[in-house]
Amino acid sequence: MSEEEKAPIGVVGVGWVGLVTAACLADLGHQVIARDVVEEKVEALRRGEVTIHEPGLSDLLARNSERLRFTTDMDELLDRARLLFVCVDTPPTYSGDADLSRVRSVVADLEENGDHVLVMKSTVPAGTGEIIRRDLPGVAYVSCPEFLKEGSAVDDFLHPDRVVIGASDRDRAAADEVADLYRPLGGELVMTDTSSAEMIKLASNAYLSTRISFINEIANVCEEVGADVTEVARGMGLDQRIGSHFLRPGIGFGGSCFPKDVSALKLLAGNSGYHFQLLNAVIEVNELQKRRVVSKLARHLGSLVGKRVALLGLAFKPDTDDMREASSLVLSARLRGEGAEVVAYDPVARENARTLLPGVEVTVTAEQALEGADAAVLVTEWPEFREIDWAGVAATMRHPLLIDGRNFLDAEVMKRAGFTYEGIGRPGVGSETE
Ligand code: UGA
Repeated sequence: MSEEEKAPIGVVGVGWVGLVTAACLADLGHQVIARDVVEEKVEALRRGEVTIHEPGLSDLLARNSERLRFTTDMDELLDRARLLFVCVDTPPTYSGDADLSRVRSVVADLEENGDHVLVMKSTVPAGTGEIIRRDLPGVAYVSCPEFLKEGSAVDDFLHPDRVVIGASDRDRAAADEVADLYRPLGGELVMTDTSSAEMIKLASNAYLSTRISFINEIANVCEEVGADVTEVARGMGLDQRIGSHFLRPGIGFGGSCFPKDVSALKLLAGNSGYHFQLLNAVIEVNELQKRRVVSKLARHLGSLVGKRVALLGLAFKPDTDDMREASSLVLSARLRGEGAEVVAYDPVARENARTLLPGVEVTVTAEQALEGADAAVLVTEWPEFREIDWAGVAATMRHPLLIDGRNFLDAEVMKRAGFTYEGIGRPGVGSETE
């Protein structure tokens, strides 16, 4: 059968994972039909408007528009596609467990014995696949967790470190079919059982989060003993058993995945009767890390009542407009709680910020946010912050104090620009810190 005659691949949910998956599968030459319940989103995508900020995605969608179809109609998807990539979100519930209602609603749409292969991209607790298989004995089930990072998702999809594919013996043929789709991309194929595949995803995110909380605690100790965490991380990272990735200290990890998955794994363990002690600390350290900046500011400024504090960068990391679980949310709430006036800037998350940061003035330029401020906090390391004329800005601030929550700027440059500058886990510079 030629590519054109093959049944299209179905993608259920065109959020961030679904849209990147649909665009990349189309780029690999497949016909793709992607379905979402949100009509406005589907309409926008049909008009060629991209609904999320992700480098390279607009080009990819435009280049493959002939092979991509967007719909709200689940029946159309089920009639035409056999392979169904499930990319719906699984946000935390009030209890912290993963909310599987969207996954369940996809499962409910499937017929018990329909000729479909369910490829689960959504992050689900280990064991979910087994339950779905029991409910849908005639449907093949393949777990294929995604490891894309926001901001480099297209590149991550096209150049994976590994692709994990989990299935029961019964569904081996379906697993091989999914493996064939990914084979042209290179990257090791990890063929395993369903529960192990689900655990690989949760364990990977929990381990990376653990590394971040670990280096954040090392940074905090460095502050006490006068060491420089940047040097410490460099020296540690050169040990091949450790490696240098994910050892950047900062003001906590955020985003829609790490906080959710750490908590989901902790609860999954707890629900199965095992107390996962380490993850409690990972979560607590992360929460406290977001708040430490407030005490740093208070050390310099005394009471924060009436002080104007500028937050630079609001997205949970650069190259995205995503503010889910961003440190900026906790920080602005804490600062406002202390009586400070908060003014904020982000190059792309402005619209989200206006909704998510009520009572906070969101400016169009970084300079506007900094003008008249008593202090600034660099929350997200957007490259454009290195291009700011810091000496010029210092003259417009009431108090040229900057806490660099990502150790992103050059301490000496900031000192020469007239700033009192303090990073995370590094000796500060400037009049009040020396
Ligand atoms: C993360 C994983 O890295 C992906 O592999 C996974 O697919 C994704 O979650 C998911 O489960 O969907 P993402 O949330 O896009 O990806 O973000 P990361 O780049 O991993 O960063 C997460 C947070 O950790 C950010 O707030 C970042 O600032 C922080 N971080 C990262 C640090 O504080 N220090 C570091 O050294 C690295």
